[in-house]
Amino acid sequence: MANGKIRKAVFPVAGLGTRFLPATKAVPKEMMTVVDKPVIQYVVDEASEAGIEHFVFVTGRGKQIIEDYFDIQYELEATLRARNKTAELTILETLLPKAGSTSFTRQQEPLGLGHAVWCARDIVGNEPFALLLPDMIMKSEKGCMKGMVDLHAICGGNVVAVEECAPELAHRYGIVARGERVGEEGFRITGMVEKPAPGTQPSNFFINGRYILQPEIFKILETQERGAGNEIQLTDAMLKLMESQDFTAYHYKGMTFDTGAKDGFIMANVAFALDRPDIRSLIEKDLKALVDTL
Ligand code: UTP
Repeated sequence: MANGKIRKAVFPVAGLGTRFLPATKAVPKEMMTVVDKPVIQYVVDEASEAGIEHFVFVTGRGKQIIEDYFDIQYELEATLRARNKTAELTILETLLPKAGSTSFTRQQEPLGLGHAVWCARDIVGNEPFALLLPDMIMKSEKGCMKGMVDLHAICGGNVVAVEECAPELAHRYGIVARGERVGEEGFRITGMVEKPAPGTQPSNFFINGRYILQPEIFKILETQERGAGNEIQLTDAMLKLMESQDFTAYHYKGMTFDTGAKDGFIMANVAFALDRPDIRSLIEKDLKALVDTL
């Protein structure tokens, strides 16, 4: 097991996004905008805040636009420069990843999240890495991944972020079993179950889409049989890895929006818009009136 700084983050973006059809027929769900930034930018920002230096995207067919988004757009930038649009230029420059700090690899078939992660094995190499599911965007003072990296510096091993859900919703998620406390914000994970039958969940702590994993997960994923939904499941591989390595939960307490679902996507837009003073002043009154009218 390797420890030390978490330098690389994997972003699996090869899913089909069927919950967002017909939009996702032409636009990857990761490129749909929350206020004025694509969803993927929020997740990359969260990783950057946590000290991540290299961003690995596992893409699929029809996702080239993501690669273009993280590149310079010469014509646009030249036009902005000619028109003295310095504020807009600064935004583009600030968000541009450093040259050489991104990698893109293709998952040729959407065989599941576990398979998508395995596709990043050569780029990640033999070091622990962060994994962020781009559907889930977070809103909190300290980013979720930053909290996880800080916890990992204390406990090492594997770290999985969890949040509490209402007991009647536990059957929708991957749920962890709770062991002894680790530091202020963590606890040992003693078991994991994907979508437990109602009433059988070992706790109400669900996995929210953020992980720090040891590279041994790749060996397990390589031989992983298909699980639920006939897909190669990350949870199954983590359960195997748990037989030989520690897993610690990071109890994240901020807001999370599942932008892969319609309600989560709309709520993310409302929440991030209300948090921007320039936009809040424009929409607050109308939003209230709309809720009362419709
Ligand atoms: P989801 O379960 O949200 O699946 O995947 P999906 O296909 O993207 O969306 P729906 O359910 O059809 O609407 C969780 C994450 O895993 C990635 C997705 O891109 C998403 O970030 N994923 C999933 C892959 O990269 N490859 C896969 O084969 C499956």
